[in-house]
Amino acid sequence: MNRRIVARTGWLMLAAVAAALPAPEPSRAAEGAKIKVGLMLPATGTYAALGTAIENGFRLYVQERGGKLAGREIEFVRVDDESDPAKATDNVNKLIKRDHVDVLVGSVHSGVAMAMAKAAKDSGTLLIVPNAGADAITGSMCAPNIFRSSFSNWQPGYAMGEVVAKRGHRNVVTITWKYAAGDESVGGFREAFEKAGGKVVKELSLPFPNVEFQPLLTEIAATKPDAVYTFFAGGGAVKFVKDYAAAGLKGKIPLYGAGFLTDGTLEAQGPDAEGLLTTLHYADGLNTPRDAAFRQSYAKTFKLPPDVYAVQGYDAAQMLAVGLAAVNGDLGRKAEFIAALGKAPIESPRATFTLSPSHNPVQDIYLRQVVGKENKVIGVASKALADPGRGCKL
Ligand code: PHB
Repeated sequence: MNRRIVARTGWLMLAAVAAALPAPEPSRAAEGAKIKVGLMLPATGTYAALGTAIENGFRLYVQERGGKLAGREIEFVRVDDESDPAKATDNVNKLIKRDHVDVLVGSVHSGVAMAMAKAAKDSGTLLIVPNAGADAITGSMCAPNIFRSSFSNWQPGYAMGEVVAKRGHRNVVTITWKYAAGDESVGGFREAFEKAGGKVVKELSLPFPNVEFQPLLTEIAATKPDAVYTFFAGGGAVKFVKDYAAAGLKGKIPLYGAGFLTDGTLEAQGPDAEGLLTTLHYADGLNTPRDAAFRQSYAKTFKLPPDVYAVQGYDAAQMLAVGLAAVNGDLGRKAEFIAALGKAPIESPRATFTLSPSHNPVQDIYLRQVVGKENKVIGVASKALADPGRGCKL
């Protein structure tokens, strides 16, 4: 017999054996079962608007693809986590154990997200973090099934440390909320700023989500630093920028921040935000075809301009899509999903980025200035900045 006949006989024999066996269980992918996405975001409290923008962005990406990713319909289960770390473990366990979600998406607050990362690591559930910057999530707590579409708290802080040093400031006071995001944002700032010869002379803080800034602003006025660096976000950022101006400090002591200070907040901050310089992985005026298409689609759907949170939500969905495409919609092939997503370029409105070995975006950090109602890009503060991923062994 020649080779071709042997091969054909082999196939016929296989076909005969297969016909005699009971039909295999159709996999969930073959059935076309829906993919359940557990959205754990704040719908109330100081970060409520951030949660809404993330959900809008995520849904927009899915909607642009007819409600399906890799041929599978997407179904949402939502939990309002209230940005409360004390409730986070119960909340995430409901999604994992009661709702049996296929993938977790959340959250905004670092403390909440760290509880999610722990539960994801313990259960093996896929987690995509669409905001919270807790350094540990892509550091000491890193895991193959945990990804981030946003940033680490270290990143914008580090970029701003270099900018503030270059602008000639030497003595800086920092002010923030006392929890992982604030501490780590200040930590990144201090690392770069002091490496460049500057000195953080005082670290001021108040508990999250308090907004009684007055005594701390009085202390800043008395200390008379060259400049102030801050991390605040959401409703707290709106009030801080207004209070800084009302205390007579605007125009006297330059205020710098991680870009959350002025993102999604400018309508409410009005002229008190004018001129502020911040660093972030997104900006207005990027003027790329990818960003323009996203902004047009977002504005048309939600009747408001997108912000950094909307981008991070959109990219979280995009990352899920990239992984799903690699496994033909079959989440049972988790190792292949993880390998594909780990090395894929993500075509974000912010600019294309890749993931670091610990699954955090390696990305340009823009320098932005508030002009009217926009965070206008005025340059790149730090090109392709990678979080060091300290403590991550993957
Ligand atoms: C965080 O808690 O990690 C956090 C919250 C709001 C932001 C950025 C980071 O805008």
